[in-house]
Amino acid sequence: MELPEAFKEKMKKLMGESYQSLLDSYDQPESKGIRTNTLKLEPDELANKLPFETQAVNWCKEGFYIDHTVRPGKNPYYYAGLYYVQEPTAMAAVEVLDPKPGDWVLDLCAAPGGKSTQIGARLQGIGLLVANELVNSRAGILSTNIERMGMANAIVTNEFPERLVDSFYESFDKILVDAPCSGEGMFRKDPGALADWSLERVDRCMGKQEKILESAHRLLKPGGVLVYSTCTFSPEENEQIIEAFIEKYPYTLQTIELPGITDHGRVDWTRKQQQEITKTQRIMPMTVKGEGHFIAKLIKSEGIAEAIDVKQGYPKSRLKKATRTDLQDYRDFAKNNLQAEFYQKIEDRLYLLGDHLYAIPAAIELERIANLKLLRTGLDLGTFKKNRFEPSYALAMALKLSQAKNSVDLNDEDLAYQYLKGEALNLQAPKGWVLVGYDGYPLGFGKASEGLIKNHYPKGLRIRKK
Ligand SMILES: C[S@@+](CC[C@H](N)C(=O)[O-])C[C@H]1O[C@@H](n2cnc3c(N)ncnc32)[C@H](O)[C@@H]1O
Repeated sequence: MELPEAFKEKMKKLMGESYQSLLDSYDQPESKGIRTNTLKLEPDELANKLPFETQAVNWCKEGFYIDHTVRPGKNPYYYAGLYYVQEPTAMAAVEVLDPKPGDWVLDLCAAPGGKSTQIGARLQGIGLLVANELVNSRAGILSTNIERMGMANAIVTNEFPERLVDSFYESFDKILVDAPCSGEGMFRKDPGALADWSLERVDRCMGKQEKILESAHRLLKPGGVLVYSTCTFSPEENEQIIEAFIEKYPYTLQTIELPGITDHGRVDWTRKQQQEITKTQRIMPMTVKGEGHFIAKLIKSEGIAEAIDVKQGYPKSRLKKATRTDLQDYRDFAKNNLQAEFYQKIEDRLYLLGDHLYAIPAAIELERIANLKLLRTGLDLGTFKKNRFEPSYALAMALKLSQAKNSVDLNDEDLAYQYLKGEALNLQAPKGWVLVGYDGYPLGFGKASEGLIKNHYPKGLRIRKK
């Protein structure tokens, strides 16, 4: 691999004897992994189903290594949301964050959603995840990934981090800042990261990281946990950012201990030789099978003493509480097509946004988020059309096959691909909406009549070929 000269020179100076082993690591194939979606099944169940070999990731019990020749996106189980394709070292940050059911968690730089979907699985539907992404097109991908995994308690926002402060001042138990960075740990898997790299880019990223962390500070509860991570090696974006942060704000660093990872942050790479920095973790591709990450875990020791300009009160929300009349067509749909145990649980959380019906997460008051650019406010149940309700892909993925009154389970890979390509299925089912599944897990909705199931898999997600 042709590495930038300035990068090589810099790393050689920093790393001394271990420089050559870093260079050698770039000649190895990239490390690939998948992570089990425990909203759907357990890791051993997944491993038993997969047609390719898996090997456990030491620091993440849901994670597996797969061979670099495997294409994990080419399997119906992927479309059924049974796993997320994620590089193994990228699984470590959420392990350190350790979200628990009931927590309010913010993922501030969330797209495409590897870590958000990992947080969602840990929350098990209880508590709240706010997944924020600044870049609009990337926020769309994040939203789709959250839907595919069947998460119902996530809000997806598309904002500058500082814009969240009015709504969520000192509100979160846990915040992840998986910062935009110069991507030095991505060179093997992403040629774009290699092409974009420059010393100036490292500087630009530092500026962004400082600003994002300042917002994170305002958003975190006193006593809350802040995890900062990057997939780059430069000390400026790692040890030095954290050293400057703990000098300015009231935080203590916590030692990170992940099984199988021994490298720590380097005090000799800081500006002021703060010994605390050894509590941070470096995951380097020479010592660990993976692409590389940096992680710091910080606990906020006190609230913000100075008065800051947080607006009082919230504006009126565009989401409106659905009334009985609004809901008639949805009620008919739910009664005819879903098990009562599912729809009764969300009964008091139904809100309308235009013609869309949402079940908003139980934890949130709507007024808080009225000001924000929202891509998704909890579970999008579907759309009101003229005199009928049409269920969404998100609803299909959040259901169990057994929670639909009518379902077909395609135990055949070719049939599953036929459905995923958007084709109709020549199968008998009771007339009306049918939840279409593969090996017991939903893929999406179809509509049956007279021996044919019409395809309702979203057009934008349809695959071209197997
Ligand atoms: C390292 S990626 C996040 C990866 C993600 N956490 C995952 O696990 O899939 C960083 C993200 O930050 C976003 N970003 C870029 N500039 C930003 C800024 N100024 N504030 C917040 N996020 C930003 C990027 O668009 C990118 O999606």
